[in-house]
Amino acid sequence: MRSMASSNSAKGIAAIVGVGPKLGRSIARKFAHEGYTVAILARDLGRLSRFADEIAREEKAQVFAIRIDCSDSRSVREAFEGVLSLGFVEVLVYNAYQSVSWRPTNFTDIKIDSFQKSLAVSSIGAFLCVQKVLPGMVERGKGTILVTGCSASLNGIAGFSELCCGKFALRALSQCLAREFQPLGIHVAHIIIDGVIGSPRGASTSQTGLSGEQQQQQSGGGGGDVGAVMMMDPDALAQTYWHLHVQDRTAWTQEIDLRPSITRFY
Ligand SMILES: NC(=O)c1ccc[n+]([C@@H]2O[C@H](COP(=O)([O-])OP(=O)(O)OC[C@H]3O[C@@H](n4cnc5c(N)ncnc54)[C@H](OP(=O)(O)O)[C@@H]3O)[C@@H](O)[C@H]2O)c1
Repeated sequence: MRSMASSNSAKGIAAIVGVGPKLGRSIARKFAHEGYTVAILARDLGRLSRFADEIAREEKAQVFAIRIDCSDSRSVREAFEGVLSLGFVEVLVYNAYQSVSWRPTNFTDIKIDSFQKSLAVSSIGAFLCVQKVLPGMVERGKGTILVTGCSASLNGIAGFSELCCGKFALRALSQCLAREFQPLGIHVAHIIIDGVIGSPRGASTSQTGLSGEQQQQQSGGGGGDVGAVMMMDPDALAQTYWHLHVQDRTAWTQEIDLRPSITRFY
């Protein structure tokens, strides 16, 4: 674990599992911006530490980088020992996924190891992480668990059985958890990202590696090209994660889908 400072937040910890340069980083930044102490978790500790430095500096927040491999129960246990040593977890976001090729894979070419890994990261990892934080949430009668899905959470897609099976299971888990734990004060929501995530629109070119023009094209800027796919801004997506967290408990969302206004998927 790499710590920026010791935590003294009365609010509790926002633990974001699966933090890379896109959505995970934006969610971490949003919760830091709102005053939370944030633990960010993924496998690449070097990259994670850079994100922690960057968010801590820009948002004047406490951000802790902790290594985790969600496909390994021992790694999850050790990582959450670190998270829980910071304080109680008020918010868990499960965002990790085993990245897949955009090209479909013939079913008979899929290796069992790869299939199992996808299920392990998408769904078993979520099961393990949730088991670490739920007891504390139940004890306090309060907590938020947000899990990230995609269009493959709802529909089987030819050539993408690894992704679909992992994400279907994650959706099922979120529904089971919501029905069991919402009466105990734990808000569980599943966010379906129905589109392609790009870089934050406000990001500098050095952060994204894209030229200004490329960034504008990627974000669908410049207007009106209905043939193009509009990339989803992860900072905009992160606003929804925050909104779900602060919803009044008389009107909780269990599932929400988000998509850009211009998409070729219709
Ligand atoms: N990208 C898209 O276009 C898109 C579209 C629809 C839905 N989504 C969903 O949105 C979520 C975030 O996607 P994103 O592309 O924006 O990624 P991201 O939030 O930038 O990063 C996710 C991170 O998960 C980490 N991860 C992968 N395997 C892991 C493991 N075994 N244990 C721990 N962490 C692991 C990876 O970091 P390490 O390599 O450092 O572990 C990866 O960078 C995913 O759930 C994805 O299914 C994405």
